[in-house]
Amino acid sequence: PESCSQIPEAWRFDCYPERGVVVTEEMCHARNCCFIQNSQAKTSGRNGVPWCFYTPEYPSYELVSITDTEIGKVGKLLRNKKTYYPKDIDALQLEVLYEEDNRLHVKITDPAEKRYEVPIDVPVGPKTASSNPTYTVDFIKEPFGLIVKRTQTGTVLLNTSIAPLFYADQFLQMSTSLPSRFIYGLGEHRSNFLHDLQWNTLTMWARDVPPMELTNLYGVHPFYLSMESDGMAHGFFMLNSNAMDVALQPAPALTWRMIGGILDFYVFLGPDPSSVIAQYLDVVGKPAMPIYWALGYHLCRWGYKSSDKTWNVVKEMRNYGIPQDVQWNDIDYMDRALDFTYATVNFSTLPDLVKDLHKHDQHYVMILDPGISNSLPSGSYWPFDEGKKRGIFINDSNGDILTGKVWPGLTAFPDFSNPDTHEWWYQNLKSFHEKVPFDGVWIDMNEPSNFFDGSLNGCPENELENPPYTPGILGGTLKAKTVCASARQKISTHYNIHSLYGLMEAKATESALRKITDKRPFVISRSTFPSQGKYSGHWLGDNRSQWKDLAISIPGMLTFNILGIPLIGADICGFGGSTTEELCVRWTQLGAFYPFSRNHNSIDEQDQEPTAFSPAARIAMKEVILLRYSLFPHLYTLFHHAHISGHTVATPLLFQFPNDEKTYRIDKQFLWGKSLLVTPVLEAGHDYVVGYFPKGLWYDFHTVSHIPLRNSKFSYFGVSYNIHICLYHIQGDSLVSSGEEINLQAPIDKINLHLREGSIIPTQRPNTTLWVSSGQPLNLIVSLSEDGLAKGDLYWDDGETLDTYEKDQYAYIYFTVEQNTMTSEVLHNHEEAAYITVETVSFYGVKVEPENVTVNSQEAAFTYRDNQVLTVTDLGLNLIRNFTINWM
Ligand code: GLC
Repeated sequence: PESCSQIPEAWRFDCYPERGVVVTEEMCHARNCCFIQNSQAKTSGRNGVPWCFYTPEYPSYELVSITDTEIGKVGKLLRNKKTYYPKDIDALQLEVLYEEDNRLHVKITDPAEKRYEVPIDVPVGPKTASSNPTYTVDFIKEPFGLIVKRTQTGTVLLNTSIAPLFYADQFLQMSTSLPSRFIYGLGEHRSNFLHDLQWNTLTMWARDVPPMELTNLYGVHPFYLSMESDGMAHGFFMLNSNAMDVALQPAPALTWRMIGGILDFYVFLGPDPSSVIAQYLDVVGKPAMPIYWALGYHLCRWGYKSSDKTWNVVKEMRNYGIPQDVQWNDIDYMDRALDFTYATVNFSTLPDLVKDLHKHDQHYVMILDPGISNSLPSGSYWPFDEGKKRGIFINDSNGDILTGKVWPGLTAFPDFSNPDTHEWWYQNLKSFHEKVPFDGVWIDMNEPSNFFDGSLNGCPENELENPPYTPGILGGTLKAKTVCASARQKISTHYNIHSLYGLMEAKATESALRKITDKRPFVISRSTFPSQGKYSGHWLGDNRSQWKDLAISIPGMLTFNILGIPLIGADICGFGGSTTEELCVRWTQLGAFYPFSRNHNSIDEQDQEPTAFSPAARIAMKEVILLRYSLFPHLYTLFHHAHISGHTVATPLLFQFPNDEKTYRIDKQFLWGKSLLVTPVLEAGHDYVVGYFPKGLWYDFHTVSHIPLRNSKFSYFGVSYNIHICLYHIQGDSLVSSGEEINLQAPIDKINLHLREGSIIPTQRPNTTLWVSSGQPLNLIVSLSEDGLAKGDLYWDDGETLDTYEKDQYAYIYFTVEQNTMTSEVLHNHEEAAYITVETVSFYGVKVEPENVTVNSQEAAFTYRDNQVLTVTDLGLNLIRNFTINWM
């Protein structure tokens, strides 16, 4: 019809989303849709303007009733014309729950038959509706649509009336307009931080593959953050774990296309981006507080051929005085790649290595893969024999244990949806811990990854394996490189819970570690799902030793921070391929600012530990790791805020400057918390870097940090280290930006760090382990605003006890500066902080040289430099006592 051509291209909603099909007019008309061919090329994930798209009259549901309830509304939806997918659910129940002032929850279900729902804990909504919602919900009766607006501004946040709603047994589809082109989240994908809306389809289905663009990767996170045009932000979470496509188009609009479950979604009203994330994490769970050494430097590789080889690396790191908190082993340590074993010949000294690490206040983490060998002689491998006896493995659709293939050969896969599996997993971990007293666990291959498609015997032909619609999954089928969709697990078919495998395994591992170590569990997982942050961190998977991979790790890190998994990093220096010295130095500099900082390498690649390079490179790496260690008190405090308030640790610039649209695309720089700006070099051969500085006053961090470092008495600070520190001093400066790009010097041994005006950052004299350095005196760094104000804080506890915040076993200190007076106020006291003193405070931006400085009203010694830095030294102030410092 003529009405078809009147629909602008950007607003055409795809009526024929099937992949690998060139749709013809005939096929399209069979679906009662508009057909207009255009010349745009279609490539995977980039479908271009759809040729076949819905007419405005395309039949959808009708809202036949809507009534008020205590907590919102309940309505009935009816469809009276079938769609082109089988088993439409013609009658639906709509529940609209005004749960909180800033949170709307909507559920659309089949009232006749209970459908699969994602088994994660979400808050049970209140009994009565929020009294002062910041949103309004309007209902369109026919065709049914929901319109959610921000009350204050009238901005439309959600409008589902722009395309028909589908709710068939294996095909659910809902579209919405977006208030702007600025949309973030929707992991796990390799892309810029800001998603491209140019006909970009993001598929979600957990998958083992070295990260590439436009492909479903290890984790699944159906959550987005969107900026509105006035600097306000909102979020949207689709609580669904089935395979799905999220199709973005330039209207701007977005279409959810899921092949199972229910429609269950939340809108979070913010209004600022940080509040949106906090509101999202109120629903799925805030991240765990990590054990202190998780924030140290980690070394790993695939291909340490023996425990002695591994041990040598640790010894070399110690000899050079390079900080290292954790040594890891990959699958090499296992006997024939079997979980819960270690190779008795090559790794015979593993228990001694681990004891030696502990003696040096270091820690040990090893890998575990879910695949359990099923082909050893009966009686020789407890994990399989016992697992079989207890019936804890995933079964095929006939009810027999499904056989896949992973590193040890043929394997069975534990079904972590079964509580009995958690007990079995715990017992395995416990008995291995008695032999090798590991400190944390790395869970890999948990998509779950399978070298077969489906199983040794393939998969049956049925509607779970061949659904009427298959999202744009790599490999084209659900079973590609994983287990059969029709495989049976305790709580559902694999079809429904595939993408939850990593989450459920992390949960089992976390709870086992709690019982075994009685400390905060350290777990790093490859596959993730919403709420994962409660149980584990994540790394970005099998990247390559290339400059591009260095750069793209920043959007990856930022995305996982907004997804509530702040313990995140990429393999420093790159996993696949061979690194170069320059790349590895630059990567170590950026990696020192990953919340989770691990150098990991693939098998048969050239060594890439810091000790493997020239003295100059090694020293540059050592210094930046020391710098990370000096910032530990700040980093630890940021994790505390993530844990209790759902803040990000690595923060996108736009979170702090939502009114500056120039920050909306920035993903080559980031902040730690609110104020420490990191501007790494991401290109080869550059001794400068261009960074964007939002409006305001910024201080070169190195200027203020030189004092405590130079005064350090550690013998491993060699000559070259001191020279380097002087260099920082010479370059030290502040800059006033009007919101501009600035060219910064960045010689190979420097990472640019700037402190935003108005902050106070606690730092500590660094050492080679966090155990030692976290007992050292503090140096507070104060960056005064133009008005002479600053604030900051410190969270402190013993670093490893479970639930210290929840059990009141912590200290919390708040620092402020105004009118030339700094106040340290102990808001929550605990003896752990009594061991810590404040030794130095550096005030940056003191415009006039003071005549005298007093500390708790007593005169004190100070220095003042012409770069406007006032430093008060030799303070010896106990952290658990309030104090004031004043200058006149
Ligand atoms: C997977 C992991 C990688 C690990 C390798 C061997 O590829 O992603 O980190 O080194 O398996 O276990």
